[in-house]
Amino acid sequence: MIAYLLYKSVIKNMIVLIKKSISLLLKTTSLVLREFIGILTDIASINDFVRTGYLDYIPRPDDIFIVTYPRSGTTWMQMILYQLSTDGNMDISHISEVCPWFDRMLLFNIMNGKDLEQLPSPRIFKSHLPYKWIPRGPCKYIYIARDGKDVAVSYYHFYKSHLNFTGNFSEFFEKYFMQGKVQYGSWFKHVAEWKKHEKDPDVLFLHYEDLVNNLKSTIFKIIHFCEFDVPNERMPEILERCSFTFMKKYENKFDHISAVIWEKGYKQNSFIRKGKSGSGREYFSKEQEILFNNEVNKLKLNDI
Ligand code: A3P
Repeated sequence: MIAYLLYKSVIKNMIVLIKKSISLLLKTTSLVLREFIGILTDIASINDFVRTGYLDYIPRPDDIFIVTYPRSGTTWMQMILYQLSTDGNMDISHISEVCPWFDRMLLFNIMNGKDLEQLPSPRIFKSHLPYKWIPRGPCKYIYIARDGKDVAVSYYHFYKSHLNFTGNFSEFFEKYFMQGKVQYGSWFKHVAEWKKHEKDPDVLFLHYEDLVNNLKSTIFKIIHFCEFDVPNERMPEILERCSFTFMKKYENKFDHISAVIWEKGYKQNSFIRKGKSGSGREYFSKEQEILFNNEVNKLKLNDI
């Protein structure tokens, strides 16, 4: 009897052990498969980007790329160019309709070479690509650089409102922003690479601060660079529509995920946030300021 009970208990323990081992094996396999699928999906996206962006995309001399590191005034420039190149009516459902996000459309296979061909001239694209990855023209590039501290703070708010980041500013700044572990990598490298080309004839290198402090004269620079023909009588309307207040009023036409995030219960009206320059530094501690300035000095970005 005792031998039988002992035998039963050993068998029971063995079954438990076998079940646990199989469960662990399945768990590990799922993890590996998911990782593998993620890697394959990334490779497919890069594949699509290379195919469409470098092989199928045929540049036109009047194509314009608005290039920025995120949170540097990209959407604002999209609106400015939309106003300057059309009658600028607000019947559009979203600014991406008239100024597609080149990298995203290609990476996610939303547009192919044929779609790009069908866009009317002048084609205006938004991009966050670093200089080495931007498709080569003949075309024009408008780069906007913004004070890095303001970018860090704006990006921190964006990560909180759009990307589920739950940490505080110090954590975001030290662990992510300064390490370049954010979407589109290091601000320092992005700006430094593009800055080397600020004098290239096909590049108009602007500062977000110029737009804030002198929108009108910066718009004239853009008109001249893009060779647009804009009647003077339209200027008051253009200036009004490119103002922070106007764009804030139409925010859903600029923040393309606002509808989706609203459904998911996230906060809306946080994409077009404050539109001020210089307030970023209020967030910085002395140590963070030193860390930041060291990097700026190293890459000679003092005039950004
Ligand atoms: P803040 O978060 O500092 O307010 P991007 O379009 O590259 O993501 O940049 C977003 C930043 O540009 C946000 O900065 C946003 O408020 C600001 N912005 C957008 N439209 C603007 C406008 N018309 N005037 C001033 N700033 C604007």
